[in-house]
Amino acid sequence: MTMSKFSSLVLAAAAAATLAVVLPAPAAKAETLYDKLGGGPVAVKVIDDFLANVVADDRINFYFAHADVPKLRENLINLVCGALGGPQVYTGKDMKTAHEGMGIDQAAFNALAEDLVITLENLGVGWHDIRTILTLLAPMERDIVS
Ligand code: HEM
Repeated sequence: MTMSKFSSLVLAAAAAATLAVVLPAPAAKAETLYDKLGGGPVAVKVIDDFLANVVADDRINFYFAHADVPKLRENLINLVCGALGGPQVYTGKDMKTAHEGMGIDQAAFNALAEDLVITLENLGVGWHDIRTILTLLAPMERDIVS
């Protein structure tokens, strides 16, 4: 091997080594909030406890008097889990259509949000994660409150 070929090889090896140090390893898939909270079983528990709280909440339970609760439960699991990064896919109505004509006011929306926060607190979810969940749901407010 000529000297110049040898030095090119050394240079190439050095360059590869440098790149290996400079370029980060391909990032592992970031952990979703869904995973962090414990995945499916915890998410289902959140929705079940939340629905129980809503049904017991005289400020808003009359809205759900004629609701198809098993279907609502299924839809909520898919909507909330999907929003938190879980594999579920929500196939229900968009929020505007789903709540059209129900006369949901700001106080009712706040009461429901409060029931969710209490549910999450009771399950030991940290305040930082609760805020993240509320932030994910907040944009739906304008389509739900009339
Ligand atoms: C961020 C807040 C909310 C979310 C994410 C949410 C989500 C949903 C979803 C996914 C459905 C099912 C749609 C479908 O059937 O395709 C639904 C229906 C419904 N929601 Fe909400 N909702 C919210 C706030 C509220 C509030 C504040 C009330 C009343 C106080 C309410 C009352 C209802 C009722 C009565 C139904 C119909 C249930 C039925 O007829 O079976 N929702 N909601």
